[in-house]
Amino acid sequence: MQHLSQITTGSSPGLRIAITGGTSGLGLALVDALSADGAQVAFVARHAERVAVVEREHPGSHGIVGDMARKTDIHRIALQLLGRLGGLDVLINNASDLGPVPLALLGDTECEDFERALQVNVLGPFRLTKALLGALASAAREGRGALVLNVSSDAAVNAYPTWGAYGASKAALAHMSRIWNEELAVQGVRFLALDPGDMDTPMHAAASPDADRSALKQPREVAQEIIATIRDLLPPVNSIITRRVS
Ligand SMILES: NC(=O)c1ccc[n+]([C@@H]2O[C@H](COP(=O)([O-])OP(=O)(O)OC[C@H]3O[C@@H](n4cnc5c(N)ncnc54)[C@H](OP(=O)(O)O)[C@@H]3O)[C@@H](O)[C@H]2O)c1
Repeated sequence: MQHLSQITTGSSPGLRIAITGGTSGLGLALVDALSADGAQVAFVARHAERVAVVEREHPGSHGIVGDMARKTDIHRIALQLLGRLGGLDVLINNASDLGPVPLALLGDTECEDFERALQVNVLGPFRLTKALLGALASAAREGRGALVLNVSSDAAVNAYPTWGAYGASKAALAHMSRIWNEELAVQGVRFLALDPGDMDTPMHAAASPDADRSALKQPREVAQEIIATIRDLLPPVNSIITRRVS
């Protein structure tokens, strides 16, 4: 099995990665897998007690309490991420809001629910990315590579009835990723929107309580797919990340 691992020679630290929504579902599976592989991991979520539990269960990880929907939280989150990690190679914008729960037709969606989906799923990632661009560009200049992964959904491309607030916000996030990628290519910062597929998580249960859970992907499988993508997109073994076989 392949692992991400901290390089043991020289002064370069291992992969420095920030994950929003790191206390449940896919985000937690990423914290698990990346910590086990020796990456330096910081994660964000709103509920302080849960953040503390996840931090305790992953020695060396850094939990940050914050709400991606709150403009006033974003700079503090960015400063804490950089303070804890000492720089940044990869940002994963994973935290997300479903819009109205139970899901509702657009005509029945409260403006406030639509607004919140846009705040968490689009504006929050925009603000956090903007606040971290200098650090990401610096990592790219140092030859470490720099990558922003925005977790999207098939609802970004398919017009599923009752998924309007969520789908519109994920479509905006995916398109914003493509534009960032064009604009930041010159600085060596790459952007990608990823659809993880249907996963057995609390968010999926809230959206589709009657779904057959046995048909869903496990978040830990998706985390491994994302780690493989990170390996493919960052520069090869020479600098920061080693691939070792155990
Ligand atoms: N599950 C699926 O089938 C599926 C399918 C396609 C795409 N996705 C996408 O995959 C990603 C992960 O989904 P999931 O199913 O793993 O979700 P999940 O189990 O509900 O976990 C969501 C995480 O985000 C945090 N979070 C939620 N709102 C936040 C906010 N405003 N600020 C900061 N943190 C926040 C939550 O912690 P707190 O509540 O403590 O903040 C939690 O750690 C999302 O982007 C989702 O849209 C999921």
